[in-house]
Amino acid sequence: MIEVTFLTNDGKTVTAPENSNLLRVSLREQGGIPFKCGGGICGTCKCRIEKGIENTDAIKPKERKHLTEEQFAAGYRMACQTFLIGNVSVSWTPRLTGASARPEAPAAEGQSQN
Ligand code: FES
Repeated sequence: MIEVTFLTNDGKTVTAPENSNLLRVSLREQGGIPFKCGGGICGTCKCRIEKGIENTDAIKPKERKHLTEEQFAAGYRMACQTFLIGNVSVSWTPRLTGASARPEAPAAEGQSQN
């Protein structure tokens, strides 16, 4: 088993089998990484592996459409395209809409501007 720490979710730490997909672990354990498509298209699941980038698998072509070489060098990945072979700590930019920002607001899909 490996450990995944969701830094932006109060450092919540969970365990998962080796070779797990990062977004799937987040969904199963309510880690909180934002997502829409789950298929490498939308770019919503951009996150930063702050510890353990060496424990992630190879960068996929789909990720290169959303992230630059500089961002990869800084530890950024697309969660839905990333598989884990060891412990990681991950952070992301919380979305402005949704549960974490305004509990009373409806959890609308999309349109995060205004
Ligand atoms: S959720 Fe859409 S690219 Fe990962």
